[in-house]
Amino acid sequence: MLIKRRKGWEIPEHLATPEALFLNRRAVLSGAAALAGAAVWPQWAAADADPTASLYPAKRNETYKLDRDITPEDVNGKYNNFYEFGFTKDIYRTVDSLKTRPWTVAVDGMVEDKKTYGIDDLIKAMPLEERLYRHRCVEAWGMAVPWTGFPLSALIAKAKPLSSAKYVRFETFLDAKMAPTQRQTWYPWPYVEGLTMAEAMNDLTFMVTGAYGKPLPKPHGAPLRLATPWKYGFKSIKSIVKITFTDERPVSYWETLQSSEYGFWANVNPKVPHPRWSQATEEVLGTGQRVPTLLFNGYGDYVADLYKGLEGQPLYM
Ligand code: MTE
Repeated sequence: MLIKRRKGWEIPEHLATPEALFLNRRAVLSGAAALAGAAVWPQWAAADADPTASLYPAKRNETYKLDRDITPEDVNGKYNNFYEFGFTKDIYRTVDSLKTRPWTVAVDGMVEDKKTYGIDDLIKAMPLEERLYRHRCVEAWGMAVPWTGFPLSALIAKAKPLSSAKYVRFETFLDAKMAPTQRQTWYPWPYVEGLTMAEAMNDLTFMVTGAYGKPLPKPHGAPLRLATPWKYGFKSIKSIVKITFTDERPVSYWETLQSSEYGFWANVNPKVPHPRWSQATEEVLGTGQRVPTLLFNGYGDYVADLYKGLEGQPLYM
């Protein structure tokens, strides 16, 4: 007998946000944006001219369901961590200096096909889809986002990694003229993150090019960012310019800054507190509610197997 196991974050249909409601909300939001006009609507709504704009909205992949409403676009777009543009949450005020065209992404290291892609060629060559993902920051807040993008595995298939490649290392741009905080040389710029090859190949690992049915707004890390929803948000590196296949475990920006607080794995776990934040619950942004946090952010059915045999490692920070 075939028994369909309900995955952790799947909830009965009648409790899910009806798509129509979401679409209506989106229409209301974008209508409001149009009415409000450029003078009052924040700069981030106006991305740089984007030759891929007609590819949005992409068809939703219904596999990925939420247990909560989608966070309203304006809440999400005005509460961000993007330290290249400042250390407060309102970087939507300063991020307009990020220039997202022209933009290239180098794929290099231990691969058969090293290549530098123009971002528009890359986006056009990839199978774009929309996915509803939860997003959980180590600061104990969470949200739910309709990302658009492509599975990292699709890019990996093009690059053809050598069998010696064990990790994927991601790097953000380095340009202090564009990103004022990068003038503060005591921080280990550029922002770097990494995954094991098995994590990179996992179905959930998503390269994000859009959100809310449009090209990615600058505060979220246009034109290309990572989404690994079972890990704390700091793993989801923004504005990527380089993807390197390597046999050395990458040392991330945060690990370099404070290795006692931020580790390589960073899997969401309510039982392992960060020195400054309990991880037992999270504030759902835009709702005023706190909800219990789930192991692997509720995505255990997809990813728990990746960590079998690694129990001795500090997998959660
Ligand atoms: N990527 C870069 N390049 N710079 C950053 O400061 N912040 C990280 C991550 N990616 C960050 C980054 C952190 S701490 C979080 S929680 C998420 O981006 C926030 O993503 P959001 O602003 O889209 O919610």
